[in-house]
Amino acid sequence: MKKVYVGMSADLIHPGHLNIIKEASKLGNVIIGLLTDEAISTYKRLPYMTYEQRKLVVESLKGVSEVVPQTTLDYESNLRKYKPDFVVHGDDWKEGVQKKTRQKVINTLTEWGGKLVEVPYTKGISSTAINKNIKEIGTTPEIRLKRLKRLIEVKPIVRILESHSGLTGLICENLTVNINGKNEEFDGMWSSSLTDSTSKGKPDIEAVDITTRLHSINDMLECTTKPIIYDGDTGGKPEHLAFTVRTLERLGISAIIIEDKIGLKRNSLLEKDEIQHQDSIEDFSFKINTAKKAQITRDFMIIARIESLICGKNVDDAIERAKKYIEAGADGIMIHSKKKSENEIKDFCLRFRKIDSTTPLVIVPSTYNHIPEETFAEWGANIVIYANHMLRASYPAMLNVAKSILTNKRSLEANDMCMSINEILTLIPGTNQ
Ligand code: SPV
Ligand code: MG
Repeated sequence: MKKVYVGMSADLIHPGHLNIIKEASKLGNVIIGLLTDEAISTYKRLPYMTYEQRKLVVESLKGVSEVVPQTTLDYESNLRKYKPDFVVHGDDWKEGVQKKTRQKVINTLTEWGGKLVEVPYTKGISSTAINKNIKEIGTTPEIRLKRLKRLIEVKPIVRILESHSGLTGLICENLTVNINGKNEEFDGMWSSSLTDSTSKGKPDIEAVDITTRLHSINDMLECTTKPIIYDGDTGGKPEHLAFTVRTLERLGISAIIIEDKIGLKRNSLLEKDEIQHQDSIEDFSFKINTAKKAQITRDFMIIARIESLICGKNVDDAIERAKKYIEAGADGIMIHSKKKSENEIKDFCLRFRKIDSTTPLVIVPSTYNHIPEETFAEWGANIVIYANHMLRASYPAMLNVAKSILTNKRSLEANDMCMSINEILTLIPGTNQ
């Protein structure tokens, strides 16, 4: 029997896939090169199903002999390994971003006389349209919760955007920027205590209780599928934190970040160090431990936020705390700084990675915002949080419009600063039905 190789992601199996497999099986034994989560996440959104789930589905399709992992978008290493007589693919890759991959497949196959066979693209089925439908169907708490860990495993750095409402959630969910054929997106949302409080007209001092915070989160949950990280402030009393953890898990939130501060919590970006009071290692470790014990699911994460650099202490202190908090059960570490210079954060990340190569590391570059994401990834950070930008962007925009109306005693001059009426009527599906 001849060997036939077919590469696919197979997140949503549709008749187009079945047609390709059918055509491939006429030529010989079909080996499916199933793209791993890592390979897929280099150019588009992480698939809905995990690799193992997709493998189970594909293995049971008629005409498939074997399923092997394809760890890169590029076919070359698998082709050399399996030396197929044929590669079968839809003919839709002749143009566009996959053109180069296609040419490489043809070149590699010629080394042993293999051939590329192209099957006419099945019209009327688009993964994009199916993906849109999936978004409308939504997700489950369990799938959403697990997604953060999956993202950390496969992405060089996970990109999180602040969100405090359904509307900002939709931006995070739907915005895509295509750069050199690669779809860039945000991976998830940060429910910030600063922006959630500010949007409710309250100070960021833990004055907004959890039930109220959950209102904003519920709005986001309703219209998104991406994971959410909850800013848990100090976590409150350990006894209360246990309830918070369970509530968040039940809703499908992926992680809580709690900071090692005591007393009246003040925002970390405030200039004075003296107003910040750091918890003792012992007491905060107890809090972490209590939260871990309360946790029910395997994948929820308790992330310990170290405020040493915010309180005027040094990197040594932060490293010492990181070790202790991980011993107490923390699933991740967030290190914060309010300096414009990246030096102390870089120092922490590099030193932390020397003593711990696996624990996820979170950073929040609100002040050292000149550093690009890939540099953070090189230092060993796993998650970058853009912690307050949606709210900071919207307030001046609203203020300018309000000023213009007041000044001109009409709204004509403000019109171009606003989205059009048509745009707002079509923004949310269902409004213009
Ligand atoms: C938040 O976004 O509420 C944070 C990050 O906790 S910071 O404002 O920098 O303290
Ligand atoms: Mg906060």
